[in-house]
Amino acid sequence: MPTLSSRLLPSVTNMIRLDHTHVLSTFHQYKAAAPARVRKGLASTIFTALEIHAQLEEEIFYPAMGDIEGGDAILGDSVSEHAEMRRLIDLLRRMEPEAIDYDATLMSLMRNVLHHVADEETQVLPQAERLIPDQLGELGLRMTKRRMELVAPRSGEIALNMARAASGNKVAITLVVVAAAAGCVLMGSRRRTRAFSARRLLRR
Ligand SMILES: [Fe+2]
Ligand SMILES: [Fe+2]
Repeated sequence: MPTLSSRLLPSVTNMIRLDHTHVLSTFHQYKAAAPARVRKGLASTIFTALEIHAQLEEEIFYPAMGDIEGGDAILGDSVSEHAEMRRLIDLLRRMEPEAIDYDATLMSLMRNVLHHVADEETQVLPQAERLIPDQLGELGLRMTKRRMELVAPRSGEIALNMARAASGNKVAITLVVVAAAAGCVLMGSRRRTRAFSARRLLRR
């Protein structure tokens, strides 16, 4: 029986949709004419979000779908599409944004992502909501807990990427620095506070 907290938290399917929206809205800010620093910040934000999202799906959501009859057929090529996505991300992480084929490789990654997201949102998620409605809250709760574990060690990298992406936008960068500092206070970590210091973020 679903717990009270799992019924109050967003379902795993809505959480997955929110992740997709975040990645696509970051991609929509990516412009070929933008400075390399901004493009790198946006691209790295996309990479980290995709890596965490794919790991969460593979650890929590896909196994739950695989357990139901016909679940593997519904998932189709999802896992191999994640593998191709990771291959392109690894390639892009080893490139500089000034490289002549950087934008083209990023567009190739995003074409794959758009195709994958379309399959999940039009087939996998609706089928999950039809076939395992009672599990969605509990799976959402597990995903939230696991996300915190995956994000915590990468919080400095995430803040730095966001700061780079916001370069030139003083309001946005101030919000990033304030949010990062607030996160450090909440986490009570002196080490992280040093890593997130406004001076350090703005210097890079
Ligand atoms: Fe997804
Ligand atoms: Fe996926």
